[in-house]
Amino acid sequence: MKTLLKIQTSLFGSQGQSSQLADRFVATWLAKNPGGRVITRDVSGDSIPHLTAERFQSFSSSADDRTPAQQAAVDFSDVLIDELRSADAIVFAVPMYNFSVPSTLRAYFDHVARAGVTFRYNATGPEGLIKGKRAYVFITRAGIYSGEADTQTPYLKQFLGFIGITDVEFVYAEGLAYGDEVREKSLGAARESISNLLEPQAIAA
Ligand SMILES: Cc1cc2nc3c(=O)[nH]c(=O)nc-3n(C[C@H](O)[C@H](O)[C@H](O)COP(=O)(O)O)c2cc1C
Repeated sequence: MKTLLKIQTSLFGSQGQSSQLADRFVATWLAKNPGGRVITRDVSGDSIPHLTAERFQSFSSSADDRTPAQQAAVDFSDVLIDELRSADAIVFAVPMYNFSVPSTLRAYFDHVARAGVTFRYNATGPEGLIKGKRAYVFITRAGIYSGEADTQTPYLKQFLGFIGITDVEFVYAEGLAYGDEVREKSLGAARESISNLLEPQAIAA
């Protein structure tokens, strides 16, 4: 049975435009993977705390040395990492907030970047340990930022690649505040691209 992990980050939860694109992707994925399992991780609000020194140090301490709070922090991080490990594919719903990815997604990344668990350093450099996954990222923006103004794509590629997720497809719905016509065209193109993403040739490419 295949597993799809959906990570939604919109402060509007499942009502977010990015979440709705991801949900459409999930429906298409389920049609192609009958009986497949979908895990939803909503990182909006304060569901993922900011990293503190105490939390960060818990990741590198031995179990015997951890306070109960630190053990709880490790357990929570382990749950998030297990979700990643169990997934064959991962879909991210990512709006642009203040020229970047939502801070809640940063907090999530802070909890899954774990030395010796999701990445390690070798003599030749870093090695990501979350291997063999394909990721799909749906990005929504009020404005239009393709090209050099796009801070999100390079950051997401770098972070995901660092933990081993190098096979990443991006879909953009931009100009969503440019009026009804532009918004509908942009969302429509993003929706239409979904079935192509799951074609066998797209996976082999
Ligand atoms: C707090 C906040 C900050 C935003 N900052 C930007 C921005 O920097 N650039 C932009 O193009 N759109 C910005 N937007 C608009 C969103 O990117 C756009 O509405 C997007 O579709 C929201 O996706 P969502 O509905 O999934 O949350 C911002 C929206 C919010 C709520």
